[in-house]
Amino acid sequence: MLDPRSLETAEEVAELARSLWGELPAAEGVVHVTALAGPPGAPLSELSTLAIDAHSPKSDYDAFALCFARAGADAIVITGQILRDEPQLHYSLGGLGLPEAPLLAYRRSTGRRAPPELYILTSGRGLEPEHPALHGWPRAHLVVPRGARLPEAELRCLGVVIERERRPDPRALVRRLRSEGARRVLVEVGPSTSRALYEAPALVDELLLSIYEGDEPTRRVGTLAPGALALSPWAPSTRPEPGWSFQLLGRAGTSDPT
Ligand SMILES: NC(=O)c1ccc[n+]([C@@H]2O[C@H](COP(=O)([O-])OP(=O)(O)OC[C@H]3O[C@@H](n4cnc5c(N)ncnc54)[C@H](OP(=O)(O)O)[C@@H]3O)[C@@H](O)[C@H]2O)c1
Repeated sequence: MLDPRSLETAEEVAELARSLWGELPAAEGVVHVTALAGPPGAPLSELSTLAIDAHSPKSDYDAFALCFARAGADAIVITGQILRDEPQLHYSLGGLGLPEAPLLAYRRSTGRRAPPELYILTSGRGLEPEHPALHGWPRAHLVVPRGARLPEAELRCLGVVIERERRPDPRALVRRLRSEGARRVLVEVGPSTSRALYEAPALVDELLLSIYEGDEPTRRVGTLAPGALALSPWAPSTRPEPGWSFQLLGRAGTSDPT
């Protein structure tokens, strides 16, 4: 399998995706990317979500999974919790140590010229206007309740879009983004918010799993939503490096390899 750090072309990006997941993920629909942890070969119901911080185990293939999904997204959904947990989080396709140019070339090859839009679901509590995720490659939108107290003038000066809603809701947000023309919506939220997206009728079409199976101690924060367990693997999982496996799951009839 290709080394994610040595990618040079859009074609190599697609080749690595095919070998990591058995086929190219769809160009459309809603995709959830998450990293789990558990013993090798454990059923998905027994795996838990990895808390992401400076000490969590790292893999270039896991970084590739996230960057590949970002490269193909029109809209990305995260939460205020993620901003607080990851104060260094910033959005550029080279931000996780992988070469940016081939990922950008791959993005262009899918017909996407502009950056994706980044949507952050939050009550607004503890929001830091200087957070690097608010000032990266995608334009940031804060999706907040009407009464949220924010440093609004400062945020607007910084180019952040503020969307006040009566009751922000992850399902309504994903549906709205799709209906407004986002062909591919990437969901990077944590387990409490993703749970809503798998309630029937599930809104997630594809789940890209990175599973840490190694011996390093990990902090874990919740299991996969029950609805996610109804998705089917498209291909057997792959193990490109010790301690990690990767799998693409999807809903029947949603595969759209291009
Ligand atoms: N392994 C992975 O791939 C992965 C991915 C993501 C996260 N994580 C980990 O998951 C943990 C956090 O998980 P979590 O489940 O607690 O967090 P989460 O689901 O990402 O975020 C919860 C937060 O989302 C915001 N939110 C959700 N629904 C909302 C709504 N309807 N209206 C307004 N705001 C809303 C709120 O933010 P405010 O609190 O700002 O109001 C809420 O506190 C962290 O340890 C993180 O590292 C892991």
